[in-house]
Amino acid sequence: MHRKVYLKTWGCQMNHYDSDKILNYLKINNHKIVDNYIDSDLIILNTCSIRKKSEYKVFNFLERLRSFKKEKDNLIICICGCLSTQEKEKIFLRNDLIDIVCGPQSIHKLNKLIYKFIKYKKKLIDIKSYKIDKNNINNKIFNYNNIKLNTYVTIIEGCNKFCSYCIVPFTRGKEISRSPEKILDEICYLSNNNVCEINLLGQNVNAYSGIFNNGDLCSFSNLLNLISKINNIKRIRFTTSNPYNFSDDIINAYKNINKIVNYLHLPVQSGSNKILKLMRRKYDIEFYKDLVKRILYVRPNMIFSTDFIVGFPGESEKDFLLTLDLINELKFDHSYIFMYSPRPGTESFYMKDNIDLIEKKRRFREIKYLIDNNIIYWNKKMLNNKYDILVEGFSKKNSKFLFGKTENNRKVYFIGNKNMLGKIISVKINDISNKNYLYGNL
Ligand code: 5AD
Ligand code: SF4
Repeated sequence: MHRKVYLKTWGCQMNHYDSDKILNYLKINNHKIVDNYIDSDLIILNTCSIRKKSEYKVFNFLERLRSFKKEKDNLIICICGCLSTQEKEKIFLRNDLIDIVCGPQSIHKLNKLIYKFIKYKKKLIDIKSYKIDKNNINNKIFNYNNIKLNTYVTIIEGCNKFCSYCIVPFTRGKEISRSPEKILDEICYLSNNNVCEINLLGQNVNAYSGIFNNGDLCSFSNLLNLISKINNIKRIRFTTSNPYNFSDDIINAYKNINKIVNYLHLPVQSGSNKILKLMRRKYDIEFYKDLVKRILYVRPNMIFSTDFIVGFPGESEKDFLLTLDLINELKFDHSYIFMYSPRPGTESFYMKDNIDLIEKKRRFREIKYLIDNNIIYWNKKMLNNKYDILVEGFSKKNSKFLFGKTENNRKVYFIGNKNMLGKIISVKINDISNKNYLYGNL
């Protein structure tokens, strides 16, 4: 009983990476993938629950499926991702359309769950942690959906930090690192299939601590070093780093490994020590600034992006102004701004959510304004300078133009030829009139 599968994904890069794995896993089990749910008889929703809004989106989408499910008797609806571990069995009560619930660590069990459901017609749930076994299926058969030039690879999953606002430790579980051999195998396989830029993934990627087959420990900086030795890999990115785990050996890796890009996403959340303490971030702003300084010492051209939460319980105007000061001081580039959203079961859920939505929105806009100016600030610095670009493809609008990305994530268009595809090419930036994409000359 093979199925026609439609999958929709919400949330972070890891969820998208997991979705790719789900699709490929189902493909090798002879299911067919379709692009429109109307053509499907199995709908998988890979969900996120980081904020209330993410949750709403899933339940709204489910309601849109109600009439389709009525028409299609044998339709199976499956919930994967963080909403499944957040809600557990309760989710069946929240929406009666759901047939199967499969947690983020159980996706390699999905095929079995589907067959079991077809056989017994009983609602099923598997949200067990299988020590991220899901990633360790032999990647030679575990083909990627669309191999691109740049790809994510999960190296660690979960979180032990328990920031007071965050649901992730409850949904993704404890930090578990994959074996270095398995990671290197996967990257070698990808690099033999044209991938030249790798983005290592983890909720706390720099907390990576793997164990070699011989029992030796492999730190994050060890792993970076080993990956950098793979010839075809030209660029290494990683996300998301936690300031708390940013040890000296990782800073040293920046000194010694040119392949690691000059761009770092380092979530700060707030510029106020009072708020950082309430958030249980385990660092203060002095520590964060000093870390940035130490990284800039070995990499003077490093650009930082970050995450902010606005309207955390108790965030006064004074606290908020400290965040604005920090943005002006450190010149954060493209960054994510979130309005605080209380999540059930977290520590801050029990604090009074005292900043109203209008005020949260104002704080959001003020930060966005500064960040947009910073983006232009960095673009201006790029004008008339040469940057290496990983050439990804031809422009859809004008096929004379190729495009690619700089280390600092700028999309740059330039006139070139098809031999440049997949290569790193040096381009001089000559037009920054648009904030979101630039033009250059060879
Ligand atoms: N409310 C708003 N933003 C949140 N984040 C995590 N939990 C919450 C929450 N409850 C943000 C943080 C984190 C990013 C992934 O999502 O900024 O870094
Ligand atoms: Fe959303 Fe966090 Fe889960 Fe990713 S790990 S899907 S961001 S809740």
